[in-house]
Amino acid sequence: MATLMRIERIADYVGAEVTVRGWLYNKTDKGRLYFLLVRDGTGIVQCVVSMRDVPPETFEAARRVTQESSLIVTGTVRQDARAPGIPGGYEIAVREIQIVHLAQDYPIGPKEHGVEFLMDHRHLWLRSSRQWAIQRIRATVIRAIRDWLDSQGFLNVDTPLLTATAAEGTTTLFPVDYFGERLYLAQTGQLYNEANIFAFGRVYCFGPAFRAERSKTRRHLLEFWMVEPEMAFCTFEEMLEIAEQLVAYVVARVLEERRHELRVLERDTAPLEKVVPPFPRLTYDEAVRLLNEWAEEAADPERKAALRIEWGEDFGAPHETALSLHFEKPVFVTHYPAAVKAFYMQPDPQRPEVVRCADLLAPEGYGEIIGGSERIADYDLLLQRIREHNLPVEEYQWYLDLRRYGSVPHSGFGLGIERTVAWICHLDHIREAIAFPRMLYRYRP
Ligand code: 4AD
Ligand code: MG
Repeated sequence: MATLMRIERIADYVGAEVTVRGWLYNKTDKGRLYFLLVRDGTGIVQCVVSMRDVPPETFEAARRVTQESSLIVTGTVRQDARAPGIPGGYEIAVREIQIVHLAQDYPIGPKEHGVEFLMDHRHLWLRSSRQWAIQRIRATVIRAIRDWLDSQGFLNVDTPLLTATAAEGTTTLFPVDYFGERLYLAQTGQLYNEANIFAFGRVYCFGPAFRAERSKTRRHLLEFWMVEPEMAFCTFEEMLEIAEQLVAYVVARVLEERRHELRVLERDTAPLEKVVPPFPRLTYDEAVRLLNEWAEEAADPERKAALRIEWGEDFGAPHETALSLHFEKPVFVTHYPAAVKAFYMQPDPQRPEVVRCADLLAPEGYGEIIGGSERIADYDLLLQRIREHNLPVEEYQWYLDLRRYGSVPHSGFGLGIERTVAWICHLDHIREAIAFPRMLYRYRP
């Protein structure tokens, strides 16, 4: 009996007879030879069917089998440096082929397809080696995040997705009707995380977040995944160190474990190799000064206008992109004006018009992947900020309680999974970073 093999483990099976169960990715007809590229979800292997070595019905099966048909192939593994595939360098000399299901005319071919066509066929597009590589890297990013946080004394405590309160502004809330009562899909787990640190010290939640974004950009999804670490007795500066350690660890794990996938994506890994702490830190004031300097130097009037910024304005995509292209490593931009940030952020005691917050901008033009801050620990100040933001104070009583019973300085941040994957994979658009993206005008399939 041949052993069932996962293609990713093929190097361990040289000389052995194996069975692979999968789908036909591609086929080349050489007359007396067929080269079948078979994928099983873990890799792609070249299966060689030679008229000389197989019974006529097996050769006939190789002739009949169509792209994306499901099949079971048995044969002997041999090393051949020329063999394409993932990992490549090995092939299977076929003895037997069993067609499980003969696929109809497959709509996605080797020719170039438009993005709208591919998005309509997202359920099939996922079978391409490019989408395969991205999702494998995403899984490693998530695994690495959990491994690092677990090893640093963080407890995973998940937070509700149905909530009664806003945390990240009221304009992006997704309302849900519950028998006449209005609830919201969670924009963040942070407020609950803050309750959890008083019970568990250091925690993280990891789950989907929902934002009713109104604009079409390459960075925004309606539904995205976020990991949010939150730490008791943690200052703003300590929080930055934790964030940079985490990001550096994640990138290193991908470089270590996902070489093949990065190669499939033709990702230049040199910029990723540079993602080592410490990351540069830049205040909002310094960033505004830099942007206006670049605006001054810019010859193109459109670029000038896009870069110019008044103190007090939030950064738009062109500002973030310019800053992010300027640094080789991810860069922290800190101390934004309080007016453009969330109600819970701790003002700087020396300059209350700015808050102790940081966005981490990924390099190569990608922009924000992390948003974080020190939180207001003082009861009176928090109450004042809730009122200033016109939020319903009664809904925040439990949150205010955290400042009544053993309040401590505390900080935390949120890392967006899809933004991080888009950067590490060097994608043009965030839509490819999640299997089934939810975006403006796009919820199907
Ligand atoms: O900066 P944000 O809004 O921060 C928070 O939600 C905080 N409560 C996090 C915390 O301190 N616990 O979002 C955090 C990150 C962003 O940096 C970005 O990576 C991602 O979440 N993000 C989005 N990703 C995709 N689509 C969107 N619409 C996103 N909005 C935020
Ligand atoms: Mg943010």
